Amino acid sequence: MTKSPSFVIMESFSLKNLFFSSITILVLILSMLFFYEPAQNVMCSLAIFERFLINTPTVCSLFDTNRLSRYNGVDGGKIYLSILGNVFDVTEGKRFYGPGGSYHAFSGRDASRSFITGLFDEENLTDHVIDMDPNDLIGLDTWLNTYKKKYKEIGKLIGLYYDSSGKETDYAKMVYEKIESSKMKKVAEKKENDRYPSCNVEYVQEHKRSKVWCTTLSGGVKRKWVGVPRMLQTLDKNGKLSVRCACIQQDELSKVELAHIVEYDDCDTNSTTCYVKVS
Ligand code: HEM
Repeated sequence: MTKSPSFVIMESFSLKNLFFSSITILVLILSMLFFYEPAQNVMCSLAIFERFLINTPTVCSLFDTNRLSRYNGVDGGKIYLSILGNVFDVTEGKRFYGPGGSYHAFSGRDASRSFITGLFDEENLTDHVIDMDPNDLIGLDTWLNTYKKKYKEIGKLIGLYYDSSGKETDYAKMVYEKIESSKMKKVAEKKENDRYPSCNVEYVQEHKRSKVWCTTLSGGVKRKWVGVPRMLQTLDKNGKLSVRCACIQQDELSKVELAHIVEYDDCDTNSTTCYVKVS
């Protein structure tokens, strides 16, 4: 039986329709996958899609703790770790992070606190660090930069440092502010130590006094000048007044306001060595 011309037209029309509808549905699915966050997360949870999508910028780059925990290398697969909420692919460092490696505890989680303490118990395997010593936080920042140089950064961990849209949290801002201010403090301290290096100190039993003296290396500051020992009053990190022996350049003595720089008793003004009473 031959088909009527109108039937043939209708059939090819509906085939065409079917083809275009399928394309439309496919485009819709793909756009959902690439632009609609919850859909991305669902797809990213499926390993088959993840392998393909992990290298696509913005897609699959947001991890929750559950998803990150799967990448601990136990299954012989990829190894990821997070530091201050930044997720890195550390598979290349399998000998450190894989099962049996010294730093396996870092795998599949954010254990920023352990990077500071070097302890790997439950109390330390956490991302909470705001209460840590500011100087230690600088060390953590150094680790972060090491990872940025050595490994590929593949995303952010939703939690303390990034919210569910990948935006930095107030907690993260506070941690970075603390890091920045302690870096600035360290620079200021170094500047002061270069200007007023510490004296060498040694207790001399025979004199029942401490010998304080200056050299071109005292205080760990390599320099051309030697300086003379003086009592230097400074404020410590808690704002308390403290006194230390510092080597002061002769020409500095005429420049600086001298209130916080005091000569030792029984010591010649120009002597590079003094014997001082220990209080
Ligand atoms: C707070 C304490 C410590 C932490 C958080 C820490 C962390 C780490 C990490 C994460 C790595 C791997 C780095 C990478 O991926 O390239 C590493 C490597 C290493 N660590 Fe530690 N570490 C600590 C203390 C120590 C100590 C005390 C020693 C020595 C007694 C040590 C010896 C080593 C060695 C030998 C390597 C291998 C270096 C290489 O082959 O490139 N670590 N450490």
